[in-house]
Amino acid sequence: MVVQANRPAVRTLQPSLIRKLSNTAIGRTDVIPLWFGEPDKPTPAFIRQAAKDAIDEGQTFYQPNLGIMELRAALASYTNELYRTAITVDNVAVTPSGMSALAVALQTVVAEGDSLVIASPVWPNLPSTAEILGAEVRRVPLRPRGGTWRLDLDELFAACGANTSALMLNSPNNPTGWMLSDDEQRTILDFCRERDVWLISDEVYNRIVYDRDCAPSFVDKINDHDKYLIVNSFSKSWAMTGWRLGWLLAPKPLISSLEMISEFNFSSIFAPTQMAGITALQQGETFIRESRERYRRALALIERAFAELPRVSFPRPHAAFYAFFAVEGVSDSYAFAEQVLRQCGVGLAPGAAFGPHGEGYLRLCFAADAPLLQRALQQMSPLLQ
Ligand SMILES: Cc1ncc(COP(=O)(O)O)c(C=O)c1O
Repeated sequence: MVVQANRPAVRTLQPSLIRKLSNTAIGRTDVIPLWFGEPDKPTPAFIRQAAKDAIDEGQTFYQPNLGIMELRAALASYTNELYRTAITVDNVAVTPSGMSALAVALQTVVAEGDSLVIASPVWPNLPSTAEILGAEVRRVPLRPRGGTWRLDLDELFAACGANTSALMLNSPNNPTGWMLSDDEQRTILDFCRERDVWLISDEVYNRIVYDRDCAPSFVDKINDHDKYLIVNSFSKSWAMTGWRLGWLLAPKPLISSLEMISEFNFSSIFAPTQMAGITALQQGETFIRESRERYRRALALIERAFAELPRVSFPRPHAAFYAFFAVEGVSDSYAFAEQVLRQCGVGLAPGAAFGPHGEGYLRLCFAADAPLLQRALQQMSPLLQ
């Protein structure tokens, strides 16, 4: 008898190609790891201290499903300050990570047999989370044009059919650094209203943006009559990837459904983690600005190096901390990433991990110090020449 998952949607799931490749290097200490999407530095000390204080105070009990009220209020204020909006605590649900926010969002609005439309390449967890629920995912390609990435909105809208329940967008995008403009967001929102389609917007990179303080967001365009769910996370902006803390913004009438979905998924989140989140929101702006400057310098370094390599094409990212680049002659990104790992000792994510539209590309996370990036570029240069 073969023991396997009962649900076909689970049996057909594909593992992450980033994990698959990085697992081949477990135990190797000589690899420069630029394959995962996280800052290289630990969470700032002032944020860590807030969690330590909460532990010392004995804050070890269950918490409300939607998060500690003080954190929900801090998230509402943070959002309102950033985008001049009027979000209230009744629009906010705290989740144990951006990943869980996505899962809660999709469990709330997606049914088996629905189709979801998504711009791709994209972080694989977005389509996979929808597929686990038995939804069909339709991918619309982002294309490099004029030195940067673009989405054809007509193509996006044409992919929506009668059974499409949601449009899923991740802007700023992992892995390309593509970013929707305010006008494009307004057009998308109009389409969702007209077609009565949910908008699920993953905005976890909204503070890692290179020409302004925060990326365009749907939050300053929606109202409580819209069908929207905005996913965000503490992971990237405040270097808190391991803590597992995120949040959802949603229309007020949906919040009681989110509360129940939260109860039946994770029930509540460790209070010290939430206290760290409050401190991050209230005192973390300098850290965000400093990190952004560091990533901006890293991006410039990568751009200078790639400009010297005629085989490399690198559409410019507007945001996030990834270089998503193609190498002439490379059509199998997994095989090439394996070769880079074996011969150069550098861990890159294969573009195919982000869906078929990412094939032929490699992703390098540049949230790292300049000397390390320089060494990685130097070690890779024989394969990129
Ligand atoms: C586009 C995108 N959304 C969501 C997440 C989830 O972040 P976390 O679960 O760490 O909050 C990630 C992490 O890489 C991401 O790239």
